[in-house]
Amino acid sequence: MKITDKDVKAAIQSIGQAADITVLEELRLKYLGRKGEITQALRAIGTLPVSRRAKAGAAANRARAQIETALAQRVRQLKKQQTETEARRPLDLTAPGGGRTLGHLHPLKELQKQLIQAFWQIGFQVADGPEIESDWYNFEALNIPPGHPSRDMQDTFYLENGAIPRTHTSSVQIRYMEIHKPPIRIISTGNVYRNEDEDASHLWAFQQIEGLVVDKGVSLADLKGTLLYMFRSVLGEQTKIKLLPSFFPYVEPALEVHVSCVVCGSRDPSCRTCGGTGWVEMAGAGLVHPQVLRNVGIDPAVYSGFAFGAGIDRIAAVRYQVPDIRYFWRPDLRFLEQF
Ligand code: PHE
Repeated sequence: MKITDKDVKAAIQSIGQAADITVLEELRLKYLGRKGEITQALRAIGTLPVSRRAKAGAAANRARAQIETALAQRVRQLKKQQTETEARRPLDLTAPGGGRTLGHLHPLKELQKQLIQAFWQIGFQVADGPEIESDWYNFEALNIPPGHPSRDMQDTFYLENGAIPRTHTSSVQIRYMEIHKPPIRIISTGNVYRNEDEDASHLWAFQQIEGLVVDKGVSLADLKGTLLYMFRSVLGEQTKIKLLPSFFPYVEPALEVHVSCVVCGSRDPSCRTCGGTGWVEMAGAGLVHPQVLRNVGIDPAVYSGFAFGAGIDRIAAVRYQVPDIRYFWRPDLRFLEQF
């Protein structure tokens, strides 16, 4: 098919007269769409004798450029007209208000706030520690000497100066106990870092909430009650917990804390949140190891304690039924506006 100057003129004219964007889009398809006239003319060039190809090609390209310009120009005109019409419309003072959109806290921040509030209510204080730690606070004082295999449990990032972006908030336990003596009842929340491949339930930076209680006669029952209280206050009263034996050098006995899946009520074998198991692992916990107490000058013959560390992103994933925790760390308003 050949496009003549007359064809191009006619096309430009109809574009200039298009009444609205829909008509314009139809015209764009008619000329430049996959089966459009110009597109076909360009495609047909390959079938022409070599001697005519250059000229025909140049002509078709020129036609395409002219039509594109005409389309763009008409879009601008139509938009301008629309703005002008809108501006001329009289102001209707009786129209109902459109409402105002307000921002809100990020879901992780909101959850963190609620966790802190729940602990305030039972007399805990909030402690803080730096995100960049020394080996002492992140490992050694927690009974993890250099070369200890459990260092591999957490893939650690190291800075050039040997400092460590903390791999857990357990470092705050040591910082707090170095300065304060029992009775101790604290939580601490914040970012932690691990050299991990990201997937739907793992991130290289995430948030934890750490708890530490040290006093006379603190037992596993106190720990269990506190964990149950924490998870129920943010996941609902029907939440159950399950404690399984585990290993962390700074607690003995050490426990893995699994929480009943509130998304499927532990009933859906194809549940994406709990993988059909009915339980989601959310924390590590245990009774503070005597050596840890000794490391900070607290006598384990007099005092005992419990500690736990839970993943805030994991709790949020269950609470908000988000199948992939990476969403929480992306600045995508389409996701964030749902909360
Ligand atoms: N620090 C552990 C982790 O990050 C959790 C934990 C905290 C375990 C306190 C025991 C006691 O996985």
